[in-house]
Amino acid sequence: MNTSTVIKVMLVDDEEFDVRRVQNTVALSPTKIQVECVLSNGRAALEHIQKYPDRYDVVILDYQISGGLRGEDLIRQMKDADPFLQIIVITKMTTNTTDFEFANNLLKAGAFWYCTKYPGNIEEYIYQPTDFILSIVNAYEKKKLEKQKMKSDKRLMQSIESMLEAKKIIGESKPMVELRAAIEKYAKSDANILISGASGTGKELVAWNIHLKSKRRYEKFIPINCGSIPHELVESELFGYERGAFTGAVGTKPGLFEVANNGTVFLDEVSELPLSAQVKLLRVIQEGEIEKIGRTGSLSVNVRIIAATNKNLAKEVSEGRFREDLYYRLNVIPIDVVPLRQRGEDIILLFKHFVEYFSNDMGTPPPEIDPKAYDILMNYQWPGNVRELRNVAQRLVLSGAEKIGVKEVSDPMILKNTILPKDLSFEEFYNGQVLTLREMERAFRLKYFKYVRSISSSDANAAEKLGIAPSNYYRMCKELGLK
Ligand SMILES: Nc1ncnc2c1ncn2[C@@H]1O[C@H](COP(=O)(O)OP(=O)(O)OP(=O)(O)O)[C@@H](O)[C@H]1O
Ligand SMILES: [Mg+2]
Repeated sequence: MNTSTVIKVMLVDDEEFDVRRVQNTVALSPTKIQVECVLSNGRAALEHIQKYPDRYDVVILDYQISGGLRGEDLIRQMKDADPFLQIIVITKMTTNTTDFEFANNLLKAGAFWYCTKYPGNIEEYIYQPTDFILSIVNAYEKKKLEKQKMKSDKRLMQSIESMLEAKKIIGESKPMVELRAAIEKYAKSDANILISGASGTGKELVAWNIHLKSKRRYEKFIPINCGSIPHELVESELFGYERGAFTGAVGTKPGLFEVANNGTVFLDEVSELPLSAQVKLLRVIQEGEIEKIGRTGSLSVNVRIIAATNKNLAKEVSEGRFREDLYYRLNVIPIDVVPLRQRGEDIILLFKHFVEYFSNDMGTPPPEIDPKAYDILMNYQWPGNVRELRNVAQRLVLSGAEKIGVKEVSDPMILKNTILPKDLSFEEFYNGQVLTLREMERAFRLKYFKYVRSISSSDANAAEKLGIAPSNYYRMCKELGLK
């Protein structure tokens, strides 16, 4: 250790004879151990530590101490006041030399070490000097390590916090509030999760949030897009291979599951996994083992699997493209991310967020947004969901417009699809036959009510958009069979 360091010791003992013996013993140390304070009373010692936390490194504490407060109680309270303080307990020789329980209780209360004092006929030292000094030095090293660990834990925690901030899920609609609650709840468990939702709804973002809130957060998060790996390479990518396993395997390659050990694997587009890889994946889930190509014997891994799909996986199972047993193993906790058009006011929140984000990125003030532009954005179908909204916001910011109004968002270069929702096209009602006006009106109302409700945050909000009183809205919904 660094010889210039002084280990600051507090001695708590009420017998002058023992105080002297402790001082004589530590004085032999080649490193600097300084008894900076001697107190003869447990309560006074505790108060002193409470007043000056982090002033001492090591306390040498006599077990039988005056002042009422002593032993395990005193140790616990000292550690509460200064968690890094290391406590060495010295006791009188007891007749029972195998009292492990006694020593164990001291350690459980938080003591670092325990020793029995030399008998009274040894006047110079309290204990075998080298052993005693070494335990003080070790206690000090432990304090240093604990402090370092706290610092690095704090740093890790800060980086997790900033990742969570960057991966924040925006939205106050009911489905989003429920989604956030589900993430909080299920992140704590280690069960596999299947996230379903259309393209661009935020499935990967949800997976990240689950990982960052789980106990695996300090470990790796490995996203794997099952749809983008050529079929013949899936197994070697996922599970790796040994050198010489096949022609061209010049080195050993760890698979992504091995790399992710102790962390989370995100299997995106899981429905695209070929059947042969599905069998191997099932084995990973059931046995916690991977079969590396060319390796005799399997390799243990511990990963949590979060899978995502924009297909109906149950349908893939019924049509024989996805293994049923694997489906049940992945779908322990199902999470569904609803399409953006069903999240009403979130469209506005997200749009504002992305406009601010990209303006910040460009170092320009965010453009003003005309409320009428929101109406258009809210009425749009968003087939590409949040990803499309993000792109729209980015294009608008890049265009350098100072104001985002109806004209800007109506530009076909901005919103690529028709602004009128597809559901409102006349042909769909007409359907080759002529309806009576009454039938046509009913069909129209049914579709239009459903549509308006889907882009509204509540019934009241839908009624407002339709320009009718909430009570009328409710009555009409009932007539249409929507309630
Ligand atoms: N609620 C949200 N709040 C903030 N950003 C979001 C939200 N949902 C999605 N995003 C952003 O939208 C983009 C698309 O999201 P993500 O990649 O998670 O979607 P996905 O469902 O995995 O899409 P795909 O099915 O195409 O793989 C990302 O940039 C993501 O950060
Ligand atoms: Mg994705």
